[in-house]
Amino acid sequence: MNLILMGPPGAGKGTVAKQLINKYGIVQLSTGDMLRAAIKEGSEVGKKVEAVMAAGDLVSDELILELMENRLQQDDCEKGFILDGFPRTIPQAEGLDVILEKLEIKINAAVNIDVPKEVLVERLSSRRTCTNSSCQEIYNILNNPPKVEGKCDKCGSDVVQRDDETADAIMHRMDTYNEKTAPLIDYYKNKELVVDINGNQSYEAVINEVTSKL
Ligand code: AP5
Repeated sequence: MNLILMGPPGAGKGTVAKQLINKYGIVQLSTGDMLRAAIKEGSEVGKKVEAVMAAGDLVSDELILELMENRLQQDDCEKGFILDGFPRTIPQAEGLDVILEKLEIKINAAVNIDVPKEVLVERLSSRRTCTNSSCQEIYNILNNPPKVEGKCDKCGSDVVQRDDETADAIMHRMDTYNEKTAPLIDYYKNKELVVDINGNQSYEAVINEVTSKL
């Protein structure tokens, strides 16, 4: 199964992806996680994108498409994948179509998670994320805190607030989503791939709705 996960910042894409990979035995390809790992490593890509991400802006389409074209050719993608946070602009979606055609891969569905804006802001302000690049487990201090404060339940690494979770950056990410990413819903509706999900329900209810509709 090859899926695209769509939805505004804080909709729960990462949370849903982490459950689906266990259920279906497929891999999560999160451009946000890959970029944060590159920043942590101090790589050239990381240095290029650090300030852009902290401000809540989008990284260039060229860089993202190159990253994903390489990633999609790795062996672990053969069993299926979830694109989490990609594509995020119409040029990225068009670029993805070209890559998929070249690699002879088909997308089964574009899962669109919808959550009201006021809920998103609260979720993002209270989210905490594991700093270990190969874990990046997601927590929420209001409804899903780590068992030991500040430490990841899975790997024991520090759990912190992301650099793009300041009030200004959150608002900017919302605006960027509405302007550049929301038009992708129609793009994939035209391809008859969209599966709409109400993301404003319990963790369990969201994942049940996703799996029953897929
Ligand atoms: P990215 O990491 O992709 O961030 P995002 O899309 O803004 O999404 P988030 O990770 O903030 O939210 P999410 O929907 O995954 O929600 P989560 O599951 O964590 O991108 C970050 C940056 O990288 C971008 O701003 C950009 O700079 C760059 N970038 C990445 N991809 C790019 C691309 N393709 N092109 C250009 N630039 C790119 O959940 C949020 C919180 O809510 C958590 O605390 C969680 O516990 C909680 N929660 C989840 N579900 C529920 C529920 N049902 N009930 C209650 N709480 C819930």
